[in-house]
Amino acid sequence: MPLLIRNADIVTADSRSRADLYIESETISRIGANLEAPPGTEIVDATGKLVFPGFIDPHVHVYLPFMATFAKDTHETASIAALIGGTTTYIEMCCPSRLDDALQGYQLWKSKAEGSSACDYSFHMSVTKFEQCTEPQLRQIVADGISSFKIFLSYKNFFGVTDDEMYQTMRLAKQLGVIVTAHCENAELVSRLQEMLIAAGKTGPEWHEPSRPQSVEAEGTGRFATFLETTGAAGYVVHLSCKPALDAAMAAKGRGVRLWIESVLPHFLLDKTYAERPGVEGMKHVMSPPLRERSNQKILWDALAKGFIDTVGTDHCPFDTSQKILGKDAFTQIPNGIPGIEERVNLMYTYGVKRGILDLHRFVDATSTRAAKLFGLFPRKGTIAAGSDADLVIYDPNYRGTLSAATQHSNVDYNGFEGMPIEGRPSIVTVRGKIQVRDGKFVGERGRGKMLKREPAYF
Ligand code: URP
Ligand code: ZN
Ligand code: ZN
Repeated sequence: MPLLIRNADIVTADSRSRADLYIESETISRIGANLEAPPGTEIVDATGKLVFPGFIDPHVHVYLPFMATFAKDTHETASIAALIGGTTTYIEMCCPSRLDDALQGYQLWKSKAEGSSACDYSFHMSVTKFEQCTEPQLRQIVADGISSFKIFLSYKNFFGVTDDEMYQTMRLAKQLGVIVTAHCENAELVSRLQEMLIAAGKTGPEWHEPSRPQSVEAEGTGRFATFLETTGAAGYVVHLSCKPALDAAMAAKGRGVRLWIESVLPHFLLDKTYAERPGVEGMKHVMSPPLRERSNQKILWDALAKGFIDTVGTDHCPFDTSQKILGKDAFTQIPNGIPGIEERVNLMYTYGVKRGILDLHRFVDATSTRAAKLFGLFPRKGTIAAGSDADLVIYDPNYRGTLSAATQHSNVDYNGFEGMPIEGRPSIVTVRGKIQVRDGKFVGERGRGKMLKREPAYF
């Protein structure tokens, strides 16, 4: 059924205008004043609301075998949570371990999402080793519509690559026009520090941050940038958490390295004292890179406002408390990660836009448009224009609420942002023209999501 949105206050990364939007055949077909509605058109009045392009989360985990367990969401639960929070597309990290075959891993990850996600999705393909068969397999995966790789400089012997494997991945990425995303922490130093702390009886979650200090992240970021500089590949640092890492990335950008930066929701709003809470409360807030000293938050917000930090993801990692507790005797066994796929947009709007830190356009850019551009989805996604997919968020800036595990939709029994007030939430969310969410409730079609084929960008 066609859809007409009347009186839309349309906000994109670079413009604001008032118009009607007419949607048919999954796309925005007309934008203009007083558009005609043929019989049978559903009409939505957006007076008093903001209309944003569907938000894009560039960094999520849904299916994730990691640290002796499996993350709890399915694509059904994760996508419903995403949509209720205004995210209409996510890019999942496809993460086979070093023991797995990359192509089989890719097919497994794809099979988990197919027919299950209610929103559109794609994958970053993790390269966790580089053997003879790796290059042809990666070429096949890129030909299937994946235009980004992921490497881990951390998680030694599991996801982590050696410097030689990083080099080979970048050489191939450069040839294929594929961007390399990277988790930047020095694996060797992390494992030495973990050994030392555990041997000294420092086993609680409060020791997670000291086992991965800022210097370790800055080293990883700097080394990643040096390899990009040498190979000529384009890169994207995921979940950058602190000033020394930001300095390393900015220095590289200043030298002309083609490098983009993502920070994730928890690092803007939570600090290391959350992981210092006793017992499982602390464990809920263990992620890598860790939550940092509070002083970093202002630095990240400033860099985001200026566009030095390009995107905001979540690193959504749906492990629940029964899994977090696996690390009760040693922080090294706590499954890493904090869920946030439902909370990202509302929290960035509340604590960024409403607090006067983020300009409304930069907010849209950081949470949607720039990811679309970097990862080969623009202008199909990430903007509101004739011909773009009709992924729209009609946002109610007057809504007031409080985040809680009791009302969330991810299949997790805690909320890392429990009790935080929000000012604004999506009132209507569409995926390719179909209304999937109304006022906090999923009302749409499960399994509607499509895997998005992305073209290499040749930065
Ligand atoms: O703590 C995190 N980030 N867990 C998920 C794996 C990763 O590093 O992205
Ligand atoms: Zn990571
Ligand atoms: Zn991650």
